[in-house]
Amino acid sequence: MSEPVQTPQTKFAPRIFSGIQPSGGLTLGNYLGALKRFVQKQDEGIETIYCLVDMHAITVWQDPEKLRQQTREGAAAFIAAGIDPARSILFNQSQVSAHAELAWIFNCVARLGWMNRMTQFKDKAGKNAEAASLGLYAYPALMAADIMAYHATMVPVGEDQKQHLELTRDIAIKFNNDFGVDFFPVVEPLIEGAATRVMSLRDGTKKMSKSDPSDQSRINLTDTADMIAAKIRKAKTDPEPLPETVEGLKDRPDARNLVNIYAGLSDLTVDQVVAEFAGAQFGTFKPALADLAVAKLTPITTEMNRLMQDPAEIDRILGAGAERADTIAHPILEQVYDITGMIRSRRRG
Ligand code: AMP
Ligand code: TRP
Repeated sequence: MSEPVQTPQTKFAPRIFSGIQPSGGLTLGNYLGALKRFVQKQDEGIETIYCLVDMHAITVWQDPEKLRQQTREGAAAFIAAGIDPARSILFNQSQVSAHAELAWIFNCVARLGWMNRMTQFKDKAGKNAEAASLGLYAYPALMAADIMAYHATMVPVGEDQKQHLELTRDIAIKFNNDFGVDFFPVVEPLIEGAATRVMSLRDGTKKMSKSDPSDQSRINLTDTADMIAAKIRKAKTDPEPLPETVEGLKDRPDARNLVNIYAGLSDLTVDQVVAEFAGAQFGTFKPALADLAVAKLTPITTEMNRLMQDPAEIDRILGAGAERADTIAHPILEQVYDITGMIRSRRRG
């Protein structure tokens, strides 16, 4: 194999990084927008690094015991969905100190004006931004560090993370410019597929989220087949039958959402789903969607429950993943300290 060419876009080998917060149980949104894509990228043979970002989770209050539990459950979901810890690196963020260390450097690169534009901060901080944690504000710099600690070049995420990835690119560019180096790659967001933004089952204009107070608004990866079917049956819709064309879903957010979910689960395009169900009533479409969701999700739930029987094994997998992650991140961090002018003369034992 020849040496990679030294230009900004080709100097870096393809490497994927992505993360999910263990701040609650995972939802169908996480599965279709993120997890399912993560597995596809792994299976395409690209080097893949996946992380349960526990340090991001504590930017809002987390009960310590629940956080531990949810981190294990998240890991179990990754594995149950098809992540193979031998082929992908799977770990939790706090076990690799490079994330926090690089985040500090990036706190000094990113500008307040950039942070002030982040819509997720505004959403999460709500009306009383004064009471939000400083960590919630700095969250995107930690996310940039997650990615850049590995010189990752591609990041599969759902639509809601687009702005954070633009900020990640800005941080990489500013770091390279400030220090006159070509050190960090400018990452490419991978926001792909029919379900990059799965919406609430109660309100098709709101994102499906693990933090929504209504459990009816989402499908959790821990839901039983009966719960999944009942939630889909009760999902908000309008009185019209499904249209003949995708264009006909415009201004019908609830219908559009269910069609997108069907497409995401079945690997059909939205066009194909519309063609299949053109003119159908929801009385026909919803049971078909419920059957599909149950068929796709229950094997994952069953496997998750089995894996959760052995938490020590999950911890072992996360620890082994963290060691592999550290092997990549540590030399990159040392170079960053060197570039920024830090003396590194301490012996490491
Ligand atoms: P989070 O749960 O906020 O840590 O999100 C983890 C990943 O899941 C990110 O890539 C998100 O973009 C994705 N994600 C979360 N909710 C949704 C949703 N409702 N639709 C599509 N993707 C989502
Ligand atoms: N901010 C992401 C979310 O809430 C999670 C995340 C943290 C992430 N670090 C990341 C995603 C790095 C991709 C890459 O969804």
